[in-house]
Amino acid sequence: MTHKDKIILDKLPEHIAVIMDGNGRWAKKKGNSRIFGHTNGVTAVRETVEAAAELGVKFLTLYAFSTENWNRPKMEVDALMSLLVSSLHDETPTLLKNNISLAAIGDISRLTDKVAGRLTAAIEKTSHNTGLKLILALNYSGRWEILDAVNRIKADIAAGKLNTGITAELFSYYLNTKNMPDPELLIRTSGEYRISNFLLWQIAYTELYFTPTLWPDFRKEDFYKAIVDFQKRERRFGKTSEQLNQYEQTVNK
Ligand code: FPP
Repeated sequence: MTHKDKIILDKLPEHIAVIMDGNGRWAKKKGNSRIFGHTNGVTAVRETVEAAAELGVKFLTLYAFSTENWNRPKMEVDALMSLLVSSLHDETPTLLKNNISLAAIGDISRLTDKVAGRLTAAIEKTSHNTGLKLILALNYSGRWEILDAVNRIKADIAAGKLNTGITAELFSYYLNTKNMPDPELLIRTSGEYRISNFLLWQIAYTELYFTPTLWPDFRKEDFYKAIVDFQKRERRFGKTSEQLNQYEQTVNK
């Protein structure tokens, strides 16, 4: 029995977020360059996207490039960008075939014209698809996103467009993830126990899943395993176990 058979399909998380980590260490273990690790990470991206689409997950957000990643050696940054450009080119037909639509979060304005162009083209081409929404976090950081929201709220207040109190719901509307549910599950590979500035606002109630598997080794089975683990947990949202059981009994009457 594989982990896939243990997944309860009508209790799937709607939104899964992934911190893809460990490409560099994977390559080093093989005596190769960090860039080799990133190139092999693309296979894991493909497997994860396919697994999510096949299961019927609605949103999958991948942390592909953080704001902090600009601090890496120029050669590595360039390699990551050209990997993105070639992947967008190679994989768009597969996205179309599988009814997947692409979106991006992050400060896209700092990406080169070539990367931004390919990205926008792929987003437009897939915009009519109704299956999985694949969101790439590019030049993204949670603190940047929150400050960006605050500044846009400030501008709207100054322009007289906003004169109500700021609720959590209104604030969410100013985030890059507007109209998306918060992730129920966040997966991080490579045995690191950190959030690294990813989706800080959105993960308030998210279940965290950490695996020692290095990203280039991550396969469908690892993805299924994370979902099975998630489904065994009880999500309480600050309530007691008893309150939740009472609620379930009322709903199931
Ligand atoms: C972290 O590993 C990984 C990244 C910073 C980039 C992730 C990019 C890919 C998987 C390739 C292309 C992506 C798409 C969407 C086509 P690391 O370099 O931090 O590894 P380390 O912690 O072992 O050094």
